[in-house]
Amino acid sequence: MTPTFTRQFVKEKNSNSGVSWLRATAAGLARSTLRLENAFYEYHLGITTRGLYNWTPGGDWSQDEHLYYYATSYRRIFRILDALRLGPADTFIDLGCGKGRVACCASSYPVGEVIGIDDVPELCSAAENNLRDLRSRRARSRILRCGAQEFDYSVGTVIYMFHPFGARTLFAVLSRLAAGLQSSPRDLRIVYVNPVHESILRQTKWLEPYDRWPPLRYLGTEVAHEVSFWRLSDDRCRLGDEPLRLP
Ligand SMILES: C[S@@+](CC[C@H](N)C(=O)[O-])C[C@H]1O[C@@H](n2cnc3c(N)ncnc32)[C@H](O)[C@@H]1O
Repeated sequence: MTPTFTRQFVKEKNSNSGVSWLRATAAGLARSTLRLENAFYEYHLGITTRGLYNWTPGGDWSQDEHLYYYATSYRRIFRILDALRLGPADTFIDLGCGKGRVACCASSYPVGEVIGIDDVPELCSAAENNLRDLRSRRARSRILRCGAQEFDYSVGTVIYMFHPFGARTLFAVLSRLAAGLQSSPRDLRIVYVNPVHESILRQTKWLEPYDRWPPLRYLGTEVAHEVSFWRLSDDRCRLGDEPLRLP
């Protein structure tokens, strides 16, 4: 099975109606423009992060607990990073970093440290190569090959996730995160791109949403996902107190 956006494009293109044809052509144009823009950024930064990568041996695109690799568009990444106003006191973590596009972009800001985490060996190698080749580096950065649910969250002031995993993994990540914040108290923000399981974040009393961006549309086509922004609430003293429920 192919990813949803490809299936949708083929369906629209095969439709007989003129309106559908126009819509499909506009969608194709929008995606081509975005691809061109992404290629320009790759050239400018000196890295290679494009494409899809499915880690499953059988090429199953429907697994929803460990998502395939697909990068956030540069346009979205830079807007997010600008909005975060990162500084030397920040440690930026991309959970499920894939080939390291977001980690590379964050490393071009004056941030204390950037950590990319992924558990697919091929993707980690690609991310390491990209960090090595990156032009205009301003931050210390490293890639860790481990599951997000195994990481020691005693560091990190900003966590970035582009819908990397399903509810069970997010659940495990949040309990480890709560433990890390208890042992090393600090401020924390979470950027959740395509926030499919944000109901789990909402269940915690120690996180609160503080901003939300709608999907980005171009020529009537969605070219970037919705983003939700979270931070520690005033109830942070209840870290890990509440029993979370899987949706
Ligand atoms: C949609 S891609 C996002 C890539 C990158 N963060 C970006 O925004 O460009 C999701 C990534 O999460 C990784 N991933 C999924 N489950 C994971 C887990 N439990 N631990 C670490 N990485 C995981 C996948 O291998 C994939 O590279």
